[in-house]
Amino acid sequence: VKVLCISASNNFKEGIKETSSFIICKRIVDEIKKKTPQADCHVLELKDYTLNPCTNCVKCLNSSRCVIDDMFNEIYEKILDCDALFIVSPHYAPIPAKLCMIMEKMESIWFHPWLKDNSYRPEIVGIPTGVISHGGIGKEGGLREYERVVNYPIANWLFTIPKSHEDTRQLKLIEFDDDWKYGINVPPVLDFEEWSKLQASIFGSYVDKVIQSCNSTI
Ligand SMILES: Cc1cc2nc3c(=O)[nH]c(=O)nc-3n(C[C@H](O)[C@H](O)[C@H](O)COP(=O)(O)O)c2cc1C
Repeated sequence: VKVLCISASNNFKEGIKETSSFIICKRIVDEIKKKTPQADCHVLELKDYTLNPCTNCVKCLNSSRCVIDDMFNEIYEKILDCDALFIVSPHYAPIPAKLCMIMEKMESIWFHPWLKDNSYRPEIVGIPTGVISHGGIGKEGGLREYERVVNYPIANWLFTIPKSHEDTRQLKLIEFDDDWKYGINVPPVLDFEEWSKLQASIFGSYVDKVIQSCNSTI
């Protein structure tokens, strides 16, 4: 099983050695390794990439890649190559700009060819994807706030298309349960007591669920 964890952080604040999103990605990998030691897990940090926004040039209609952004293409290849994906995003009012750029471009890559010919299907459809948000202060009620501003836009990007066109989606959102349909949130990573409570319940189960969905599709 190949797992890609995308850390959406772009945090270069002085003194920060590891971003919170990166730490959460490492914990995802730890969870996976407990049950699936042979899993091939890779953490990709968007802060290592320089990306450009989509300009609506529509050249991806023929190339299925972005003609102005090699670094995006590098990330896109890694996404296409994985069996399961995790997107870990901090609250950045609302989500980090680099994550938006990836969302814009992946949308364009399938949407333009599909608009021209509705029978078009992307190279890969339905990679199981877990969405995990977090922020600087959120606890309890705050977690619902992160769901609204961080999980919703990411999750809706993954599935607002009409049901009849679901098989054109490159990524498939994995919900946690009926209460947490758009992925989960975690408290600030430095709050270890909160974290360990959550890890025991929600976090570990959600990571498992994403990996299990991937086992059932390959
Ligand atoms: C532009 C921007 C806006 C932010 N807005 C909020 C916010 O509204 N609420 C909050 O709890 N944290 C907010 N934060 C703080 C980050 O979510 C928090 O520091 C987080 O731990 C950063 O994670 P990272 O190290 O993975 O980038 C904001 C950070 C940035 C850069």
